[in-house]
Amino acid sequence: MFENISLEVANHIGVLTINRPKQLNALNKLTIQEANSALKELATDQSVGVVIITGVGDKAFVAGADIKEFADFSIAEGGALAQQGQALLFDLVAHFPKPIIAAVNGFALGGGLELAMSAHIRIASSNAKMGLPEVSLGVIPGYGGTQRLAELVGKGKANELIFTAGMISADEAYRCGLVNSVVEQDELMDTAKKMASKILRNSPMAIRSAIKAVNAGYTSGVNGYEVEIEEFAKCFGTPEFKEGTTAFLEKRKANFRE
Ligand code: CAA
Repeated sequence: MFENISLEVANHIGVLTINRPKQLNALNKLTIQEANSALKELATDQSVGVVIITGVGDKAFVAGADIKEFADFSIAEGGALAQQGQALLFDLVAHFPKPIIAAVNGFALGGGLELAMSAHIRIASSNAKMGLPEVSLGVIPGYGGTQRLAELVGKGKANELIFTAGMISADEAYRCGLVNSVVEQDELMDTAKKMASKILRNSPMAIRSAIKAVNAGYTSGVNGYEVEIEEFAKCFGTPEFKEGTTAFLEKRKANFRE
Protein backbone atom coordinates (compact mmCIF):
# COMPACT_ATOMS: atom_id res chain seq x y z
CA MET A 1 0.00 0.00 0.00
CA PHE A 2 2.81 2.44 0.92
CA GLU A 3 6.14 2.67 -0.92
CA ASN A 4 8.35 4.54 1.54
CA ILE A 5 6.85 3.78 4.92
CA SER A 6 5.38 0.79 6.70
CA LEU A 7 2.61 0.76 9.25
CA GLU A 8 1.78 -1.91 11.82
CA VAL A 9 -0.82 -1.86 14.55
CA ALA A 10 -0.71 -4.30 17.48
CA ASN A 11 -1.69 -4.08 21.14
CA HIS A 12 -3.13 -0.57 20.68
CA ILE A 13 0.25 0.73 19.41
CA GLY A 14 0.75 1.98 15.86
CA VAL A 15 4.31 1.72 14.57
CA LEU A 16 5.12 3.96 11.61
CA THR A 17 8.50 3.11 10.09
CA ILE A 18 10.21 5.32 7.52
CA ASN A 19 11.45 2.84 4.95
CA ARG A 20 14.00 4.22 2.44
CA PRO A 21 17.13 2.46 3.68
CA LYS A 22 19.24 3.21 0.58
CA GLN A 23 18.77 6.96 1.19
CA LEU A 24 19.13 6.60 4.97
CA ASN A 25 15.37 7.19 5.24
CA ALA A 26 15.63 10.74 3.87
CA LEU A 27 12.26 12.45 3.64
CA ASN A 28 11.19 13.09 0.06
CA LYS A 29 7.78 14.39 -0.97
CA LEU A 30 6.20 10.94 -1.31
CA THR A 31 7.45 9.85 2.12
CA ILE A 32 5.94 12.95 3.72
CA GLN A 33 2.63 12.38 1.91
CA GLU A 34 2.55 8.73 2.92
CA ALA A 35 3.39 9.52 6.55
CA ASN A 36 0.58 12.09 6.51
CA SER A 37 -1.93 9.48 5.24
CA ALA A 38 -0.75 6.87 7.74
CA LEU A 39 -1.02 9.31 10.65
CA LYS A 40 -4.54 10.29 9.61
CA GLU A 41 -5.47 6.59 9.63
CA LEU A 42 -3.93 6.17 13.08
CA ALA A 43 -5.76 9.26 14.40
CA THR A 44 -9.15 7.76 13.57
CA ASP A 45 -8.35 4.12 14.39
CA GLN A 46 -10.11 3.67 17.75
CA SER A 47 -7.91 0.69 18.60
CA VAL A 48 -4.74 2.84 18.56
CA GLY A 49 -3.74 4.77 21.70
CA VAL A 50 -0.05 5.51 21.10
CA VAL A 51 2.12 5.86 17.98
CA ILE A 52 5.83 5.10 17.64
CA ILE A 53 7.78 6.59 14.72
CA THR A 54 11.11 5.03 13.79
CA GLY A 55 13.38 4.43 10.79
CA VAL A 56 14.15 1.12 9.14
CA GLY A 57 17.56 -0.49 9.76
CA ASP A 58 20.20 0.14 12.38
CA LYS A 59 21.98 3.10 10.80
CA ALA A 60 19.50 5.93 10.43
CA PHE A 61 16.31 7.21 11.94
CA VAL A 62 16.03 9.82 9.16
CA ALA A 63 19.07 11.56 7.60
CA GLY A 64 17.10 14.69 6.74
CA ALA A 65 15.03 16.14 3.97
CA ASP A 66 15.95 14.61 0.61
CA ILE A 67 18.76 16.88 -0.60
CA LYS A 68 18.60 15.49 -4.17
CA GLU A 69 14.97 16.54 -4.41
CA PHE A 70 15.42 20.19 -3.42
CA ALA A 71 18.92 20.99 -4.75
CA ASP A 72 17.54 22.89 -7.79
CA PHE A 73 14.65 24.64 -6.06
CA SER A 74 13.85 28.34 -6.49
CA ILE A 75 12.99 30.66 -3.57
CA ALA A 76 9.26 29.99 -4.08
CA GLU A 77 9.77 26.23 -4.26
CA GLY A 78 11.92 26.33 -1.11
CA GLY A 79 9.17 28.20 0.72
CA ALA A 80 6.55 25.72 -0.45
CA LEU A 81 8.73 22.78 0.62
CA ALA A 82 8.97 24.07 4.19
CA GLN A 83 5.34 25.16 4.38
CA GLN A 84 3.88 21.94 3.00
CA GLY A 85 6.24 19.73 4.98
CA GLN A 86 5.38 21.49 8.23
CA ALA A 87 1.64 21.30 7.56
CA LEU A 88 1.57 17.71 6.28
CA LEU A 89 3.89 16.08 8.77
CA PHE A 90 5.67 18.09 11.46
CA ASP A 91 2.69 20.06 12.81
CA LEU A 92 0.48 17.00 12.41
CA VAL A 93 2.88 15.04 14.63
CA ALA A 94 3.26 17.83 17.20
CA HIS A 95 -0.51 18.31 17.56
CA PHE A 96 -1.47 14.66 17.12
CA PRO A 97 -4.31 13.75 19.50
CA LYS A 98 -2.50 10.61 20.70
CA PRO A 99 1.04 10.47 22.13
CA ILE A 100 3.79 9.99 19.57
CA ILE A 101 7.13 8.53 20.66
CA ALA A 102 10.12 8.88 18.33
CA ALA A 103 12.37 5.82 18.60
CA VAL A 104 15.58 7.35 17.27
CA ASN A 105 17.61 4.38 16.00
CA GLY A 106 20.60 6.10 14.34
CA PHE A 107 21.32 9.34 12.45
CA ALA A 108 18.64 11.96 13.09
CA LEU A 109 19.83 14.91 11.04
CA GLY A 110 18.11 17.98 9.66
CA GLY A 111 14.52 17.02 8.86
CA GLY A 112 15.14 13.76 10.74
CA LEU A 113 15.90 15.52 14.00
CA GLU A 114 13.04 17.90 13.24
CA LEU A 115 10.70 14.90 12.93
CA ALA A 116 11.95 13.47 16.24
CA MET A 117 11.56 16.89 17.87
CA SER A 118 7.93 17.20 16.68
CA ALA A 119 7.14 13.96 18.51
CA HIS A 120 5.93 14.25 22.10
CA ILE A 121 8.68 12.00 23.53
CA ARG A 122 12.08 10.84 22.20
CA ILE A 123 13.99 7.67 23.07
CA ALA A 124 17.38 7.22 21.40
CA SER A 125 19.60 4.20 20.81
CA SER A 126 23.14 4.64 22.10
CA ASN A 127 24.55 4.81 18.54
CA ALA A 128 22.21 7.65 17.51
CA LYS A 129 23.75 10.89 16.28
CA MET A 130 21.78 14.08 16.10
CA GLY A 131 22.22 17.50 14.55
CA LEU A 132 20.90 20.22 12.28
CA PRO A 133 23.53 20.39 9.50
CA GLU A 134 21.50 22.64 7.19
CA VAL A 135 23.83 25.67 7.30
CA SER A 136 26.58 23.44 5.88
CA LEU A 137 24.32 23.16 2.81
CA GLY A 138 23.68 26.91 2.63
CA VAL A 139 20.18 26.71 4.02
CA ILE A 140 18.56 26.74 7.47
CA PRO A 141 16.32 24.14 9.15
CA GLY A 142 12.88 24.47 7.52
CA TYR A 143 10.77 21.85 9.24
CA GLY A 144 10.50 23.63 12.60
CA GLY A 145 14.07 23.00 13.79
CA THR A 146 14.97 26.58 14.72
CA GLN A 147 11.92 26.72 16.99
CA ARG A 148 11.71 23.24 18.49
CA LEU A 149 15.43 22.81 19.19
CA ALA A 150 15.47 26.08 21.14
CA GLU A 151 12.34 24.96 23.05
CA LEU A 152 13.94 21.66 24.01
CA VAL A 153 17.54 22.58 24.79
CA GLY A 154 17.44 26.38 25.24
CA LYS A 155 18.48 29.12 22.83
CA GLY A 156 22.23 29.06 23.50
CA LYS A 157 22.70 25.33 22.89
CA ALA A 158 20.33 25.46 19.89
CA ASN A 159 22.35 28.27 18.37
CA GLU A 160 25.57 26.30 18.90
CA LEU A 161 24.15 23.19 17.23
CA ILE A 162 22.64 25.11 14.33
CA PHE A 163 25.63 27.41 13.66
CA THR A 164 28.27 24.67 13.91
CA ALA A 165 26.15 22.16 11.92
CA GLY A 166 27.70 19.63 14.28
CA MET A 167 26.43 16.24 15.40
CA ILE A 168 26.02 15.22 19.02
CA SER A 169 25.96 11.74 20.53
CA ALA A 170 22.90 10.19 22.13
CA ASP A 171 24.46 10.74 25.57
CA GLU A 172 25.04 14.42 24.93
CA ALA A 173 21.48 14.68 23.56
CA TYR A 174 20.26 13.17 26.84
CA ARG A 175 22.37 15.55 28.92
CA CYS A 176 20.95 18.61 27.15
CA GLY A 177 17.33 17.43 27.31
CA LEU A 178 16.97 16.66 23.62
CA VAL A 179 15.99 13.02 24.27
CA ASN A 180 14.12 11.51 27.21
CA SER A 181 16.34 8.42 27.53
CA VAL A 182 19.07 6.41 25.83
CA VAL A 183 19.10 2.61 25.55
CA GLU A 184 21.04 -0.02 23.63
CA GLN A 185 19.82 -0.38 20.06
CA ASP A 186 18.41 -3.90 20.54
CA GLU A 187 16.29 -2.60 23.42
CA LEU A 188 14.98 0.49 21.65
CA MET A 189 11.64 -0.75 20.34
CA ASP A 190 10.88 -2.71 23.51
CA THR A 191 11.60 0.36 25.62
CA ALA A 192 9.35 2.51 23.44
CA LYS A 193 6.59 -0.13 23.57
CA LYS A 194 6.90 -0.42 27.37
CA MET A 195 6.46 3.34 27.69
CA ALA A 196 3.50 3.13 25.30
CA SER A 197 1.92 0.39 27.45
CA LYS A 198 2.24 2.59 30.54
CA ILE A 199 0.55 5.46 28.71
CA LEU A 200 -2.19 3.11 27.46
CA ARG A 201 -3.36 2.47 31.04
CA ASN A 202 -4.51 6.09 31.29
CA SER A 203 -7.47 8.03 29.96
CA PRO A 204 -7.10 8.71 26.20
CA MET A 205 -9.39 11.72 26.53
CA ALA A 206 -7.33 13.22 29.37
CA ILE A 207 -4.11 12.61 27.45
CA ARG A 208 -5.56 14.36 24.38
CA SER A 209 -6.38 17.34 26.60
CA ALA A 210 -2.89 17.28 28.14
CA ILE A 211 -1.30 17.38 24.67
CA LYS A 212 -3.41 20.44 23.81
CA ALA A 213 -2.59 22.20 27.08
CA VAL A 214 1.17 21.56 26.93
CA ASN A 215 1.33 22.63 23.27
CA ALA A 216 -0.66 25.78 24.04
CA GLY A 217 2.17 27.08 26.21
CA TYR A 218 4.48 26.95 23.18
CA THR A 219 2.06 28.60 20.75
CA SER A 220 2.54 32.31 20.35
CA GLY A 221 -0.53 34.37 21.22
CA VAL A 222 -2.14 31.53 23.17
CA ASN A 223 -2.37 31.54 26.98
CA GLY A 224 -1.40 28.04 28.10
CA TYR A 225 -2.89 28.51 31.57
CA GLU A 226 -6.28 29.41 30.07
CA VAL A 227 -6.18 26.41 27.75
CA GLU A 228 -5.30 24.24 30.76
CA ILE A 229 -8.38 25.53 32.63
CA GLU A 230 -10.63 24.87 29.59
CA GLU A 231 -9.26 21.38 29.02
CA PHE A 232 -9.39 20.57 32.75
CA ALA A 233 -13.05 21.62 32.88
CA LYS A 234 -13.93 19.57 29.78
CA CYS A 235 -12.77 16.39 31.52
CA PHE A 236 -15.52 16.69 34.15
CA GLY A 237 -18.69 14.88 33.24
CA THR A 238 -16.97 12.58 30.74
CA PRO A 239 -17.32 8.79 31.09
CA GLU A 240 -13.53 8.49 31.41
CA PHE A 241 -13.43 10.92 34.36
CA LYS A 242 -16.29 8.94 35.96
CA GLU A 243 -14.42 5.67 35.40
CA GLY A 244 -11.07 7.05 36.68
CA THR A 245 -12.45 8.56 39.87
CA THR A 246 -14.86 5.67 40.56
CA ALA A 247 -12.07 3.14 40.11
CA PHE A 248 -9.91 5.04 42.62
CA LEU A 249 -12.74 5.14 45.18
CA GLU A 250 -13.51 1.45 44.61
CA LYS A 251 -9.80 0.62 45.01
CA ARG A 252 -9.52 -1.01 41.59
CA LYS A 253 -7.65 -0.21 38.36
CA ALA A 254 -9.46 2.05 35.95
CA ASN A 255 -10.40 0.50 32.65
CA PHE A 256 -10.49 3.10 29.91
CA ARG A 257 -10.30 0.81 26.90
CA GLU A 258 -13.44 -1.38 27.03
N1 CAA B 1 19.08 13.34 1.24
C1 CAA B 1 19.25 12.53 0.18
N2 CAA B 1 20.05 11.46 0.21
C2 CAA B 1 20.69 11.20 1.35
C3 CAA B 1 20.56 11.99 2.51
C4 CAA B 1 19.70 13.12 2.41
N3 CAA B 1 19.45 13.93 3.46
N4 CAA B 1 21.34 11.50 3.49
C5 CAA B 1 21.94 10.40 2.97
N5 CAA B 1 21.56 10.21 1.69
C6 CAA B 1 21.98 9.17 0.75
C7 CAA B 1 23.38 9.44 0.24
O1 CAA B 1 23.34 10.36 -0.83
C8 CAA B 1 23.79 8.06 -0.20
O2 CAA B 1 23.16 7.77 -1.43
P1 CAA B 1 24.04 7.18 -2.68
O3 CAA B 1 24.49 5.85 -2.18
O4 CAA B 1 23.06 7.14 -3.80
O5 CAA B 1 25.17 8.13 -2.87
C9 CAA B 1 23.15 7.16 0.85
O6 CAA B 1 22.09 7.93 1.44
C10 CAA B 1 24.09 6.75 1.96
O7 CAA B 1 24.67 7.91 2.51
P2 CAA B 1 26.25 8.13 2.66
O8 CAA B 1 27.00 7.36 1.63
O9 CAA B 1 26.50 9.61 2.74
O10 CAA B 1 26.46 7.45 4.09
P3 CAA B 1 27.62 7.79 5.15
O11 CAA B 1 27.56 6.71 6.18
O12 CAA B 1 28.90 8.05 4.48
O13 CAA B 1 27.15 9.19 5.83
C11 CAA B 1 25.56 10.71 6.79
C12 CAA B 1 25.97 9.25 6.58
C13 CAA B 1 26.58 11.42 7.70
C14 CAA B 1 24.19 10.71 7.46
C15 CAA B 1 25.52 11.44 5.43
O14 CAA B 1 24.72 10.65 4.53
C16 CAA B 1 24.95 12.82 5.46
O15 CAA B 1 25.61 13.75 5.87
N6 CAA B 1 23.69 12.98 4.99
C17 CAA B 1 23.05 14.29 4.86
C18 CAA B 1 22.61 14.83 6.22
C19 CAA B 1 22.03 16.21 6.05
O16 CAA B 1 22.68 17.15 5.64
N7 CAA B 1 20.74 16.36 6.40
C20 CAA B 1 20.03 17.61 6.32
C21 CAA B 1 19.25 17.65 5.04
S1 CAA B 1 18.61 19.25 4.71
C22 CAA B 1 17.16 19.37 5.59
O17 CAA B 1 16.79 18.47 6.32
C23 CAA B 1 16.40 20.65 5.34
C24 CAA B 1 15.22 20.90 6.20
O18 CAA B 1 15.31 21.14 7.40
C25 CAA B 1 13.89 21.00 5.59
